[in-house]
Amino acid sequence: MKSIYLDYAATTPCAPEVADAIAACLTLEGNFANPASRSHRYGWQAEQAVETARGQVASLIGADTREIVWTSGATESNNLAVKGFVEALRREQPQAPLHIITSAIEHKAILDTVAYLEAWHKVDVTYLAPNADGLIQPTQVADALTENTCLVTLMAVNNELGTMTDIPAIANILKRHKALLHVDAAQAVGKLEVNVNDWGVDMLSVSAHKFYGPKGIGALYVRRDPQVPLVSQIHGGGHERGMRSGTLPTHQLVGFGEAARLVSEQLAMDEARIRELRDRLWAGISELGDVWINGHPEARVANHLNVSFAAVDGEILLASLAKVAVSSGSACTSASVEPSYVLKAIGRSDQLAHAGLRLSVGRYTTEEEIDFAITEISRVVSLLRKQ
Ligand SMILES: Cc1ncc(COP(=O)(O)O)c(C=O)c1O
Repeated sequence: MKSIYLDYAATTPCAPEVADAIAACLTLEGNFANPASRSHRYGWQAEQAVETARGQVASLIGADTREIVWTSGATESNNLAVKGFVEALRREQPQAPLHIITSAIEHKAILDTVAYLEAWHKVDVTYLAPNADGLIQPTQVADALTENTCLVTLMAVNNELGTMTDIPAIANILKRHKALLHVDAAQAVGKLEVNVNDWGVDMLSVSAHKFYGPKGIGALYVRRDPQVPLVSQIHGGGHERGMRSGTLPTHQLVGFGEAARLVSEQLAMDEARIRELRDRLWAGISELGDVWINGHPEARVANHLNVSFAAVDGEILLASLAKVAVSSGSACTSASVEPSYVLKAIGRSDQLAHAGLRLSVGRYTTEEEIDFAITEISRVVSLLRKQ
């Protein structure tokens, strides 16, 4: 059965160039060695490859190579940034009241991390509510700041809605406050021009598999000047300047670097083509009527479309859409199928949240695939509405 992949926001396939670069690091003939092996040529070559990759990732986000800490992905980067920073502050002032500002529509990798600090480390957390368009306004951050605020952690692009946050404006507000700014940029890097200095952020999380790199590898940008204090969350051999121990996976990092190089060359071209395809998809689907875009129609990245259909059961909709791979507006918990907390936070009813689809387009999507998806979605929704 023909099936179309429209779930690039969940993950992307590796670019063929990335897969080749990874494959060349696996066997005895390739660059397979431990980059920390200092006593032989194999190790030196692996180290050189890892440092080249570090340069490619740093250059993609406008950072210095010494500001890149390798991690296993954005989940770990978020944990290291938020817990590592709070722990560093606690060591200086064990009893000081600490306050973090985040939003109610962050990825679970942030929400669960701040909830942990709230429960076990006596940290107060403010969860900013999005408006009906899914936007968090810089003024909300300004209003929530207190003298105890040590960290603001917000995502650059929401993973469900594709909506963008005005990070430079928030950084500007924080210039007059001691709080640092951490940004989860997992959905932004590779889709927007991200420059840590232009944006004015102190820490930024990146994930390779969101832009045609391999899964299981990512990075945390950690500002050096002034140096952000961080306590390592993974102890071991003191790799990554003591911030994250563990043997570096040469093949993953080489793939990450190659993905960063490719995306920095192709970003503008990819973006224009992908936006056209996404707009074509919306034009086709909207002809059904009684279908709404979730999230701001303009302030969002080019590849995302999140829509809800009236008068359709979300579970049946997803089950009937076997030929189009998308994400739904529901999340399965152990006990039940819950409507997406993001769609609920922007005020969608349970029915509309359940009947939400996140369609995300990517580098390898074709016009024929978009037309196939429009036909298939229209057929299924019309059929379900007649039942
Ligand atoms: C906004 C956001 N943050 C964090 C993550 C987690 O990234 P990773 O899969 O690299 O751990 C994702 C991926 O789903 C994401 O979309």
